[in-house]
Amino acid sequence: MEKSKTYMSDIHLEDYTEQYENKQVNADTMVFDSGRRRELLNGIWQYAVDQYDTCLRQQWYKEKRFDENGYTLPLDYSFDQWPSIQLPCCWNVVDEKFLLYEGSMVFTRKFSCCRKDSERIILKIGAANYLCRVFLNGDYIGMHRGGSTPCYFDMTDSISAENRIILVVDSTRRPEQVPTENTDWFNYGGVYRDIELIYLPEVHIKDFQIGLVPDGTYSKVQVMVKLSEPCSGAAELVIEELGVKEQILIENGSGKAVVEVKPQLWSTDSPRLYDVRLSYMDDLVCDRVGFREIKVEQGEIILNGKPVFLRGISCHEDSAVNGKALTDEERLENIELAKELGCNFMRIAHYPHSERMARLADERGILLWEEIPVYWAIRFDREATYEDAQNQLRELMKRDWNRASVIIWSVGNENVDTDERLKFMGRLAKCAHEEGGNRLVSAACLVNGEKNIIADRLAEYLDVIGINEYCGWYTPDFEKLPQLMANSRPQKPVIITEFGADALGGHHGTITDKGTEECQAYVYERQIAELRKIDYIKGMTPWILYDFRCPRRTSCIQNYYNRKGLCSPDKSYKKMAFAILQKFYLELKDSRLH
Ligand code: GCU
Repeated sequence: MEKSKTYMSDIHLEDYTEQYENKQVNADTMVFDSGRRRELLNGIWQYAVDQYDTCLRQQWYKEKRFDENGYTLPLDYSFDQWPSIQLPCCWNVVDEKFLLYEGSMVFTRKFSCCRKDSERIILKIGAANYLCRVFLNGDYIGMHRGGSTPCYFDMTDSISAENRIILVVDSTRRPEQVPTENTDWFNYGGVYRDIELIYLPEVHIKDFQIGLVPDGTYSKVQVMVKLSEPCSGAAELVIEELGVKEQILIENGSGKAVVEVKPQLWSTDSPRLYDVRLSYMDDLVCDRVGFREIKVEQGEIILNGKPVFLRGISCHEDSAVNGKALTDEERLENIELAKELGCNFMRIAHYPHSERMARLADERGILLWEEIPVYWAIRFDREATYEDAQNQLRELMKRDWNRASVIIWSVGNENVDTDERLKFMGRLAKCAHEEGGNRLVSAACLVNGEKNIIADRLAEYLDVIGINEYCGWYTPDFEKLPQLMANSRPQKPVIITEFGADALGGHHGTITDKGTEECQAYVYERQIAELRKIDYIKGMTPWILYDFRCPRRTSCIQNYYNRKGLCSPDKSYKKMAFAILQKFYLELKDSRLH
């Protein structure tokens, strides 16, 4: 029997999310936004904790105050009288009563908008974890799924001079999501990267890719342009410092061109960037890009024609004070700390970090491994989960396509080698090869522990094989490490993407006392002594630059932190192992062989 629709019928509505499943935004609804006129909506918003999703059930966003008979309805919300919060943020670290809160929060504010006729008004959210639903002036605008990539919502049809926007963000972990409900990092919730209004002409540049043609001549720049409409005409590319002013033919909404020019190459020693501008009709975008070539050849990783050893370190997007909402100062601190360690490379794990990180890496000259959170036991059997993973990968690649520092796309971490996982991650690797530009494709794979050999079938789809091995920590004896290396015959370059040990900064003892700095230092000494001998290893990113929040780690030395960092959570303290890795990297750097 059809339920009579009354004001209170929401309490009997169990499939209340169905009405919000449509209008999902994804990689295809992204807009190239670098250099555009924008208005920040960061700042003071009102908020409420909505554990039971009453906003979605009761449709608070409609602000229905009277019933059909003019009866004043009792409201369960008061948007403008709610407490205030500064966005972007991770709510867990804003107020200790929210530290362990996982679920929905409702954020709202008013804003004015002066839209010129025919302009499109796009809301860009740098990241919200995990589901984000957007409402404007009573209308449902759309939903984004994924906790670490940007989302773009076209609000044009609902915008007016004065507006009320509502964001409903749900940070709940779920087995079918990417990542699942089980990870080794803290599940921060919130709208934690910039919230912006972007103003676009009716016909605008939707995508703009520019990079060196990877043909070993270093004398051609390739450009790809996609418009919002299937128009034809000409776009203009300008790179003043290179004397480039090139017309790019656009047919049916897209165009490509190769420009003969010899830019100064981008490298970690010389991170040369160029200002580029692209215009089409009355639309103009700009970017700041480096030109470089990365490839694998005869077992070597080759940057701009020279073999490179990736002296790396892994790093979470985690701040003791700000959660995942790092400031630029914190990102720069991490880059400078990595460089002080002797690094030319960072594995920013296990999910897409802020786009600011790739831009700062471009500026400061450090190579990056970027990764999507296909982490541990994903629902590899579920097509909707694959779509979610692939969309996060495509959003990451579209966002950072023009970033010279990004040399590796990683399609996941520590996944058991099953047939379903092979199919799922093989498809992701293929997508990364097809859409990822001049980059290498990898994943952090597990060792085959039974046979003590590197033999993950996913390697067939990868350019570089990442290997996580914890000899001397999770597996007792170091003797296994040389055997592992001797047993393995990888046909592609290997990066040891994780080794390490927990140590509480300032906690001392013997090399066998787990949790002491001496024990961690000894693990580093033994690991480095073995790994430096292996010629198929072309890089390493030990786990990890600094301690990070982790609900799984409750021992007395951990206290809800993973203590494998080389530094304390606020990076004010360097543990003994820092100097050991630093000594090795500086020797390598001086040897100039790497
Ligand atoms: C795993 C995993 C990391 C985790 C680390 C650890 O390899 O990839 O996310 O934090 O090991 O056990 O500390």
